[in-house]
Amino acid sequence: MQKLIIKGERELSGRISISGSKNSTLPILAASILTKEVCLKNIPLVKDIFTMVELLNFIGLKTRVIKKKNIIEIINDQKKINTLAPYRLVKTMRAGVLVLGSLLTKYGTAKVSLPGGCAIGTRPVDLHLLALKKLGAKIKIKDGYIFAEAKRGLKGATIKFPTISVGATENALLAAFNAKGKTIIKNCAVEPEIKDLISFLKKLGANIILKGRKIIISKTKIKNFKIIHRVMSDRIELGTYMIACALMAKKNVIIDKIDPRIIKSEIDILKRIGIKITKKKTSIAIRSNNKLKKISVTTKPYPGFPTDLQAQLMVLLTQAKGISKIKENIFENRFMHIPELKRMGAQIEIKNKTAVIKGPTKLTGAEVMATDLRASVSLVLAGLVAENRTIINRIYHLDRGYESLENKLKKCKAEIKRI
Ligand code: EPZ
Repeated sequence: MQKLIIKGERELSGRISISGSKNSTLPILAASILTKEVCLKNIPLVKDIFTMVELLNFIGLKTRVIKKKNIIEIINDQKKINTLAPYRLVKTMRAGVLVLGSLLTKYGTAKVSLPGGCAIGTRPVDLHLLALKKLGAKIKIKDGYIFAEAKRGLKGATIKFPTISVGATENALLAAFNAKGKTIIKNCAVEPEIKDLISFLKKLGANIILKGRKIIISKTKIKNFKIIHRVMSDRIELGTYMIACALMAKKNVIIDKIDPRIIKSEIDILKRIGIKITKKKTSIAIRSNNKLKKISVTTKPYPGFPTDLQAQLMVLLTQAKGISKIKENIFENRFMHIPELKRMGAQIEIKNKTAVIKGPTKLTGAEVMATDLRASVSLVLAGLVAENRTIINRIYHLDRGYESLENKLKKCKAEIKRI
């Protein structure tokens, strides 16, 4: 089992480049089932992407990962493919459930493992299935699998989500791609990753309009030439490194290869805390400020403050003066990082779904354990601030979503190594 060792209190300086978005690449890989030949650029080389590629191979697509160029090429020229997503692949990477919409709309049948829960919550897929049923699919749950059938193809319909779901919106979009007639998706998620998927589906020939929280998708003319697409940069990785610099960069650190427009709400919140940020076209300059102000934040669907940055923001707020609050409104169990942060000296109490953080507090290094992807990166951030050494166990969680994290931090003078 690998660990990360961090020697704290090192000033960060220099430049960080942001990788492509994991949460944009995953649905677009699922969408590549819908066409013959795809070349995806700016791919993040992280574990979840390789698991999704393994799933596409299992289904019968041909894939080629060109690591040094961050490119994946996918070919789907098989007449007969295996419309099955097995438990062993979906259990470790829940986004595997996104192949359900693609397989169903293209082949009329799919057998996909229920993804099951994870550390942050039960992660149901009832909204995914609601959308597919609305489009005419016959759904049966048996032996831990979703059996979906649409013998005569799917039929366009109006889908109204009772609550906002990123994954269910993506599965609805993928399923509607080949449905006969027009589909209207209401109360949809509008994360930038959804917009990236929409731009990819338009290249495949779909006619899609996104207005507010409503998507209209119709008239798909499948284009059979090679589709080339550069996935967007990872806004959660960007937010994570912004918080690292807000904690430890005395002078400006440049974070580049980004689109600052897509993280407006995060930048606004960091500015309210007192962080100095200057935005340029494809980069930002950011540095710390030792007079951080307390704030109260609630996690919300985009464009609100993202739940995927909640654990990272919490570390920053341990250094802000006064009582800050973070309400976690998206997932039911996304505070597992708190006991570990408290072992490092953080003063955090949980009152129903709200974390109450008292600052500023001195953090001291300790041996800690990661529990999920974003909780593990919050322990890295705490290790950068804490005095002495922090040892982080179970860093396979980190490797699911952060490309060469320790190298990017080492390049900014952090003392961090993997053993
Ligand atoms: C996506 O997960 C992201 N994953 C998550 O990022 C992110 O935290 C989440 O969206 C919210 O932004 C990917 O994009 C691969 P949801 P998803 O469906 O689609 C409930 C990371 O760290 N819900 O928007 O699974 C659900 O339980 C990961 O990169 C239902 O009740 O999230 C949750 O409470 C973690 N029924 C809420 O909706 C459903 O059918 C939002 O979940 C589906 C979801």
